[in-house]
Amino acid sequence: MSKVFIAHKSDITEGQAKGFDPLNQGRDSLFIVHKNGEYYGYKDICPHYGDTTLPWKKDKYLDSKSDQIVCAAHGALFEIRTGICTQGPCKNQALTNIELDIRQHNEIWVDITTIKEF
Ligand code: FES
Repeated sequence: MSKVFIAHKSDITEGQAKGFDPLNQGRDSLFIVHKNGEYYGYKDICPHYGDTTLPWKKDKYLDSKSDQIVCAAHGALFEIRTGICTQGPCKNQALTNIELDIRQHNEIWVDITTIKEF
């Protein structure tokens, strides 16, 4: 297991999400949502279709109320807390969770092997 530093907690504003490219692939491979003081990490891949990424624009992972994660391709909505699709073409499927390791000084680290799996 090999972990990499992703960001400080303060880099992700409450009620917002942010994408990251820790493998320098030229596109974000994971994103983190900061909601109600908690942090949630997911792979940036929609379960509906192939390896489609979610946002229509950098860091636009949430709906207008910042209540749900949204896939721009076909409008699937996902619970922030669980990653489960509640509405759309992949209803009841889920985003792939990425476990976040919150360390000293509010650093967020992730296991790089979980990112490489796609
Ligand atoms: S690819 Fe995400 S809803 Fe279709």
